[in-house]
Amino acid sequence: MTKSQVLHYIKPSLNGSITVPGDKSISHRSVMFGAIAEGKTTVSGFLLGEDCLSTIDCFRKLGVEIEIDDTNVTINSAGIDAWEEPKEVLYTGNSGTTTRLMLGILSGTNLHTVMTGDSSIGKRPMRRVADPLRLMGAQISGRANGQFTPLAIQGTQLKAIDYTMPVASAQVKSAILLAGLRTEGITIVREKEVSRDHTERMLKQFGGNIQVDNGVISLAGGQKLTGTHVSVPGDISSAAFFLVAGAIVPNSEITLHNVGVNPTRAGIIEVLKEMGADLSIMIDDENAAEPTATLTIKTSSLKATTIEGDIIPRLIDEIPILALLATQADGTTVIRNAEELKVKETDRIVAVVDELKKLGAKIEATDDGMIIHGPSKLTGSSLKSYGDHRIGMMGAISALITESPVEIDDVDCIAVSYPTFFNHLDSLIKE
Ligand code: S3P
Repeated sequence: MTKSQVLHYIKPSLNGSITVPGDKSISHRSVMFGAIAEGKTTVSGFLLGEDCLSTIDCFRKLGVEIEIDDTNVTINSAGIDAWEEPKEVLYTGNSGTTTRLMLGILSGTNLHTVMTGDSSIGKRPMRRVADPLRLMGAQISGRANGQFTPLAIQGTQLKAIDYTMPVASAQVKSAILLAGLRTEGITIVREKEVSRDHTERMLKQFGGNIQVDNGVISLAGGQKLTGTHVSVPGDISSAAFFLVAGAIVPNSEITLHNVGVNPTRAGIIEVLKEMGADLSIMIDDENAAEPTATLTIKTSSLKATTIEGDIIPRLIDEIPILALLATQADGTTVIRNAEELKVKETDRIVAVVDELKKLGAKIEATDDGMIIHGPSKLTGSSLKSYGDHRIGMMGAISALITESPVEIDDVDCIAVSYPTFFNHLDSLIKE
């Protein structure tokens, strides 16, 4: 049974500061690289969300020793060639990043593995990863010719490819690059629009060599990676919910510490500024492997904007909460070129539009995004999260600006990326 929640706040304001939990994308990669590399890897600020715990669980089944002590994770590995063939199916839960990146990693081992996930993962397209991996020689089988889990992988010797990305996807790019480490040649990935570059940055931290030049990424196979320390910044995709809350709830001021502001992820900052948000940014260390900042947001007077083109991959996960923001902005906000939303944890165009409509928002779905007419006064309603963490959190934040209660059918899913979400929300609310 999943847990529903009724949220009712009477003229709240939000004040105070929080440190958002670790970045989901970077936490996954820290364990993956730590397991591939030889030696000891220590990770601080790890996200203890369900998705990242699924990644740890998969590597433990491959015989990698992983210890968790609060948000510190230690990985001891003798390197990828020392992994054991798992006796059990690798269960990736709700995590697309785990499933897709593991597919790339496992294809170049000498192991037979089977991967599956939850009902949402079972509907998400895997051919976008399996197809380029097959060009590299990977042996992958699964439902609908490898489109859907469960997937079986017979590890084999891979060959390098030169691949032009048909969609902007860091998961596809990363799966190819991770497989590229197991080839004899130079793997090249060409991106038309830049997607998050955490894999490229982290590879260097583990002593690897990778060149990135104007959207062309090249990586030589056969590199030896060595364990290291990874400091995981706070997740800007989690911070996004409080950035929007601070901007739309009257009399609010919220400070968010240690937020990752890697430019390939920070599109929301550009949009908030463009919409007139009262946001200040203090960069901690620009030269860190993953730069971080302290962000302060105050109640803002907002104007509509257009979100389209190459900014989309830099804020794709923030679109649900940006849609809520747009309901409070003056004018018509248009979001386009965001068809990737249809293949996330749920179809997020349908989910966002249907749920915000129930609250009285003036919003329409389009083929590749949505159109939102603001500002509109929202009223409480019964919402669905579709088992999608980011739709659940969008619903919870909406309750801060409705006079009547908002009920959300399933809030357990929020633990996928932000297990302390309600603690943080409660700590900021002054009623
Ligand atoms: C992720 C990449 C994005 C993002 C997802 C995490 C990653 O997906 O939406 O939440 O960690 O690489 P796509 O690569 O499919 O766009």
